[in-house]
Amino acid sequence: MLFNSFALLGLLGAIARAETEGVSDVNSFVLSNNGGCKCGPSDRCWPAPLIWNVFNLTLGGKLIADTPPAISCYDGPQKDLAKCASLQADLKNSTYIGNSPVAPGFPVNDQCPPVNFAAGEVAGTCTMGGLPRYTVDATNPLQVSAAVVFAHLSNIRLVIRNTGHDILGRSIGDGSLAVWIHNLRQGITFQKTYTASDKCSKSGWKGSAIKIGGGYVWGEVYAIAEANNVIVVGGGDPSVGCIGGYAQGGGHSPANHNYGLAADQILEAQVVLASGLIVTANACQNTDLFTAIRGGGGGTYGIVVSTIVKAHPTTRVSAQVFSMAPLTDANIPDFMDALAIMYSAYPDLADAGLNGYGSWAANSYAPVIPNLPYTTGYSHALAIMGKSITDAKNAFASTAAKLSVYNGTSLFLYSDYYTFPTYAQYYRTLSGGLGPVGSEAALGSRLLDRKALTNTTGLKNMLNTVAGNPGQFLQNNFCLVSGGQVFKDRAEPFSGVNPGWRTSYVHNIVAGGWFPGADAATKAAVHKDITEVKVGSMRAIAPDTGCYMNEADRLDPDYLVNFYGGALPKLQAAKRKYDPTGLFYCPTCVGSDAWKEDSQGRICKAN
Ligand SMILES: *[C@@H]1O[C@H](CO)[C@@H](O)[C@H](O)[C@H]1NC(C)=O
Ligand SMILES: *[C@@H]1O[C@H](CO)[C@@H](O)[C@H](O)[C@H]1NC(C)=O
Ligand SMILES: *[C@@H]1O[C@H](CO)[C@@H](O)[C@H](O)[C@H]1NC(C)=O
Ligand SMILES: *[C@@H]1O[C@H](CO)[C@@H](O)[C@H](O)[C@H]1NC(C)=O
Repeated sequence: MLFNSFALLGLLGAIARAETEGVSDVNSFVLSNNGGCKCGPSDRCWPAPLIWNVFNLTLGGKLIADTPPAISCYDGPQKDLAKCASLQADLKNSTYIGNSPVAPGFPVNDQCPPVNFAAGEVAGTCTMGGLPRYTVDATNPLQVSAAVVFAHLSNIRLVIRNTGHDILGRSIGDGSLAVWIHNLRQGITFQKTYTASDKCSKSGWKGSAIKIGGGYVWGEVYAIAEANNVIVVGGGDPSVGCIGGYAQGGGHSPANHNYGLAADQILEAQVVLASGLIVTANACQNTDLFTAIRGGGGGTYGIVVSTIVKAHPTTRVSAQVFSMAPLTDANIPDFMDALAIMYSAYPDLADAGLNGYGSWAANSYAPVIPNLPYTTGYSHALAIMGKSITDAKNAFASTAAKLSVYNGTSLFLYSDYYTFPTYAQYYRTLSGGLGPVGSEAALGSRLLDRKALTNTTGLKNMLNTVAGNPGQFLQNNFCLVSGGQVFKDRAEPFSGVNPGWRTSYVHNIVAGGWFPGADAATKAAVHKDITEVKVGSMRAIAPDTGCYMNEADRLDPDYLVNFYGGALPKLQAAKRKYDPTGLFYCPTCVGSDAWKEDSQGRICKAN
């Protein structure tokens, strides 16, 4: 133990010397001697096995040599057909994904796919492909620091992995060293009254707070919140990690409308910088870093190892569950008209306090509303906090009146109301749930403001476009989570979120799919259609808003503008200041335009 901490200190000492004696040039020296590329496993500058062993010792044995999740399906010492068979379910299980150092929630370029032998599939080839080669299984912030310093001095690609899923391929990386904070668990602590770690009082927050000391998931934090009768703004999916990309990218939640975005809940954070130093970021110290991690994207400016977030007194919640579907396919045009009525009502519904989630599809390959046969349909659950069922009904009354003309003549309409004594009970019953993972995702999204949602002709065009044609396998998910406090927080002095959130009511996601076994050309065509046509139709009515980076098109050619909007200049300034060498690279993250991937999968200076 003593030896390990000394070894670690030795490594940290190396950084300190690097700062003062100019040894930090080691990195730029190696970089320029490797053609401007990070050192990949086949480069001469890749650390020798002995170095990895020494590094492992400094970490107290916490270095994992990564293997592809599906290695059990392929010939070799790790072949295990029982394990391979269970992967069919495991790789769709968000808890399993969260517990694995490398399994991707949404594979981007899987070069070792699981093989379904039972369905007659034949094993092809299995290579490490786009995966990290080693993972630091950090259990304390010093190990995170050590990983950062080691990656910097060795000029190797560093990937940050928390717990949960990522759609954009930001938490895996070819030939990289990953630092994984899933097992960094230094406690979840409720503070009746928020106390800043450094006496900083500039947040102005006098309420309760919860300190999240590591890679915990929302399900764990919700349990502590419920036990203390408070609400925290966290994900709809309880398997998502709290302190990473979710909150740092903005963080939508069933609680946004009343309490603000998840990013705006962060009162302070402990951050491991690219230099290896561990600092506090809040309204008093490192305020530009504080701003950047409050909405400017995860994995970009530093590695957040703990946060303290606002906690709000719990309240009763009333909710409406609603669905509609055309009685026959001939009624689909009426369904589309009713859908336009619903979308154009969202701004007023939100202003009246209703918010929540829903989805719809037209001509789907499977039923779209739970327990009903319709393959075209819409459903939502919208809630109103601190209010009664009567309030919920009143808030929905004028929309219900507009839709009632279709009821029974061309559409099936269903609506029911519920009330819950606490937010936690509402969340469990009608809102939260483990989302699906494991598929290759082709999706795009757009934030929709009042102008977009009330542009009658434009909106109808858009809805018809994103509905797609029969056989296109499209689905739309909408998040009516904004307005309210999200808009009020536009006055937040330390916010890095895309300003599009401050005027948009809805985050609308369109996702496309394909038949199992589809070839690369088919997938690419679906993706191109999403990027250009489907998202294009949303952009046409909402040209100024942008999108929510965490559920966005990872191939968006204009991602800097769309993901970050007007916040980009201050985020780029924070990136230059806190990570001048670009250690924290991730696709679509701020600063990623300085790098490109070469044919061997290495990242290299873009120019
Ligand atoms: C690191 O050390 C631990 C403990 O000795 C060992 O179990 C593990 O396999 C080592 N990791 C690597 C990559 O060698
Ligand atoms: C998902 O994985 C977790 C952890 O491996 C396991 O405990 C759970 O039973 C799995 N759930 C399902 C539905 O298979
Ligand atoms: C639609 O009409 C049916 C039959 O009259 C009625 O039971 C149902 O409540 C109506 N649905 C809505 C949402 O108004
Ligand atoms: C309505 O949307 C169309 C795109 O479908 C756009 O060309 C037009 O400018 C929009 N109108 C307004 C008032 O924004």
